Amino acid sequence: MNLKGRHLLTLLDFTTEEIQFLIDLSAKLKFEKKEGIPHKHLTDKNVVLLFQKDSTRTRCAFEVGAFDLGMGVTYIGPTGSQMGKKESVKDTARVLGRMYDGIEFRGYLQSDVETLAEFSGVPVWNGLTDQDHPTQILADFLTIQEKFGTLKGIKFTYFGDARNNMGNALMIGCAKMGMHFTAAAPKDLWPNEALIEVCQEIAKTTGATLKFTEDPVEGAKGVDVLYTDVWVSMGEPKEVWLDRIKSLNHYQVNSHLMKQASPSAIFMHCLPAFHGLDTEVGKDIAHEFGHLYPVVSKGELEVTNEVIESNQSVVFEEAENRMHTIKAVMLASLSDLYV
Ligand code: CP
Ligand code: NVA
Repeated sequence: MNLKGRHLLTLLDFTTEEIQFLIDLSAKLKFEKKEGIPHKHLTDKNVVLLFQKDSTRTRCAFEVGAFDLGMGVTYIGPTGSQMGKKESVKDTARVLGRMYDGIEFRGYLQSDVETLAEFSGVPVWNGLTDQDHPTQILADFLTIQEKFGTLKGIKFTYFGDARNNMGNALMIGCAKMGMHFTAAAPKDLWPNEALIEVCQEIAKTTGATLKFTEDPVEGAKGVDVLYTDVWVSMGEPKEVWLDRIKSLNHYQVNSHLMKQASPSAIFMHCLPAFHGLDTEVGKDIAHEFGHLYPVVSKGELEVTNEVIESNQSVVFEEAENRMHTIKAVMLASLSDLYV
């Protein structure tokens, strides 16, 4: 398996075998980390992390992953560079590509991460755009593999805004890995037709199935994984909250929904999650809309506190796996070890 020099912009660009290789390499690196086996395979290399949006997991995963591999890291936050204001993405790509061995990008436009890849001359990794979040899927799938021993044949349902980065990326990942993907969401929040068509074609070759339903209970019946994400994503205006609560409150993952699933089902969430009153947004939403929609009156939005704190929830293992999988992506694309 040779992924040297490859970008990770979307999992659509990777074969089933390549994705499986990255997940297995992540498991190996996780083992080495836990056992204290050093793996500084990339000393003297440097990476830059370009964030137009905030992050906890992705930023820390790239930083710790890079340090563990022996690399130097520069973090550039939403206000920390000339990009977009005084300098184009194309020029930024050509500057950073001359200083760094790899570039991580988190932002709005998929076309921006593509431009960085086209003009920087070094591997570029997508740390989230409005359209996709491929490194998250690798962590999610490592977690599923750890729990069930396999990805193929796993029954997976995504509840909520299925046309956001997570809905898209999970559908792509499930199609690639031969999983049974269901999106449970109102029709106007299903992934776009063109992407569904592409994924249906992939599914024909991997044994995956893709299903779309407006009925959350039908979506939960007998499944192995229940997955949700925030109802309003980074970059969307505050004004969309009311509409989103209106259309998604029936899709909140709560204990009733969990009971419909397989007894061994797990709950997953890319995080951050709204499951109480201990965040500014959770508090604001409860205060503003709780009287209209009692379901959100305790700041529990896409998931209840009971579910996220239950034994079925694997969200913190999933978050840890961001680091092991991102480390694998950097290692595979920057080293000669697997050439
Ligand atoms: N899941 C995820 O991407 O989290 P951050 O926004 O904290 O990076
Ligand atoms: N859909 C979310 C994912 C966060 C990791 C967002 O874009 O805000």
